[in-house]
Amino acid sequence: MEVFEAIRARRSIRKYKKGAVIPREDVEKALEAAMMAPSAVNSRPWEFYATDKEEVKQALMTAHPACKMLETASWAIVVCGRPDLQKGHGFWPQDCGAAIENILLAAKSMGYGTCWCGCYPSQPRTELVQKVLGCTSVPDAIVALGIADETPAAKGFYDPERVRFI
Ligand SMILES: Cc1cc2nc3c(=O)[nH]c(=O)nc-3n(C[C@H](O)[C@H](O)[C@H](O)COP(=O)(O)O)c2cc1C
Repeated sequence: MEVFEAIRARRSIRKYKKGAVIPREDVEKALEAAMMAPSAVNSRPWEFYATDKEEVKQALMTAHPACKMLETASWAIVVCGRPDLQKGHGFWPQDCGAAIENILLAAKSMGYGTCWCGCYPSQPRTELVQKVLGCTSVPDAIVALGIADETPAAKGFYDPERVRFI
């Protein structure tokens, strides 16, 4: 799928085909896309936790009240910031955001649906997800990944009012 086609076709999916198997290789491809993202001073201040285990997805749903779609998603990918690896001060959430968007678009190009569920800077969400993962890095978002079982309408659109050509 061509990039702009994926950008136009992507939606936040909150209902997936439960039990659908997505091979680990496809998750690794999405993670490769994540790690190909730009980052300030090329710090790459991130790490990733991927799980298809029901008990871990359940624990993430308990920690994060707005990611109930993990009930039907095949995988949860948690994108975590590593501020300790930063070379440009304070840019890690932007770096992680670029990585997250690459996951969404790579997944779309492979025929999968996703939903970006923000963690950082929301408390206690960030700390609770940290406890589930047993990590010290900062959970920036949980990405649900699965086979879409709904076709939501597009919410994004081009708004010329928000643009000034100078
Ligand atoms: C930073 C961020 C945090 C988000 N957090 C959640 C979330 O916790 N739960 C959820 O269902 N959707 C979440 N979303 C998805 C947005 O609700 C969604 O992108 C928006 O409604 C536009 O819809 P679209 O993605 O289909 O274009 C989040 C999106 C972003 C960028």
